[in-house]
Amino acid sequence: MADLSVDLNGFKLKSPILSASGTFGYCDEFEDFINVSKLGSVVTKALSINPKKGNEGNRIFETNGGMINRIGLENIGIKEFINKKLPILKEKNIDFIVNLAGSNFEDYIEASKIANKNGIKAIEVNVSCPNVKEGCLEFGTNPKTLYELTSSIKDVYKGFLIIKLTPNVSDIESLAIAAQSAGADCISAINTLKGLGVKIEITEDKKIIKQTVSGGLSGRCIKPVALSMVKRIKEAIKIPVIGIGGISNRDDVLEFLSVGADAVEIGTENFTNPNITEKITNELIELIDKLNLKNLDELKRKLRE
Ligand SMILES: Cc1cc2nc3c(=O)[nH]c(=O)nc-3n(C[C@H](O)[C@H](O)[C@H](O)COP(=O)(O)O)c2cc1C
Repeated sequence: MADLSVDLNGFKLKSPILSASGTFGYCDEFEDFINVSKLGSVVTKALSINPKKGNEGNRIFETNGGMINRIGLENIGIKEFINKKLPILKEKNIDFIVNLAGSNFEDYIEASKIANKNGIKAIEVNVSCPNVKEGCLEFGTNPKTLYELTSSIKDVYKGFLIIKLTPNVSDIESLAIAAQSAGADCISAINTLKGLGVKIEITEDKKIIKQTVSGGLSGRCIKPVALSMVKRIKEAIKIPVIGIGGISNRDDVLEFLSVGADAVEIGTENFTNPNITEKITNELIELIDKLNLKNLDELKRKLRE
């Protein structure tokens, strides 16, 4: 059987197909649908130092080819994750990456220290969170702030450090370069795009009802933006890149690999198609065999010729 393994500069994955943060819970929700152990890795929902309830009101808005969410980083907190979820993942031998979020520097550092102390092999740092202390600017929009955050995390966390970039910037290259210079081991991109969903309904009695949801756009409709950003990042840096955004089938994965992604994460598609990660994994194996190639690396080379 074709070898799908990926070596991200020393961090080894059995497959390039990962689940994206926030769309796969802490993995236990998906076990009835797929064989999770086949995945390269499960990326957990973002974890903050303290549990978060998330936003009140309408959190989801369906769009053409995607969705807008304003979940507000609802999560159980890293300590409960360590106590309740980590033992399950370990017992079932599931490879996972912990996604971390914070609203100030100290939160990120504290969470990274806890991850380090508990032997978490890899963290993906979500820098799309607003920095409350610095006036709600996202950590990931300023190269200097991102450099400082990444190097401070690197000082306390000794595992594999992935910085997940936001697409809501004009110069993604300078952010990727800042993270790399500060010691990041890998970049993942993209997080959601800022979007506004508006729904107008005109009732029988001629009233106009307006519903709006402002949040992060994800799903099939963002793929061209994600492909462009992954290509630009890959051309700007040397560390591995994990491509994310709008992947819904095998050919989407091939497109990301062809522009330089070393692995991919699949997000929104899990909601309509909960076994999509396993399906694509099987289809990749079939394709490599059909093309008489030995492994994923050979396929990547062909796609990039
Ligand atoms: C409902 C929802 C929740 C998300 N939560 C997180 C999160 O907690 N941390 C994070 O880094 N990204 C989060 N994301 C972003 C996804 O991981 C992914 O980067 C983005 O949705 C683009 O991929 P997709 O088009 O395949 O969904 C979330 C996305 C969705 C749709």
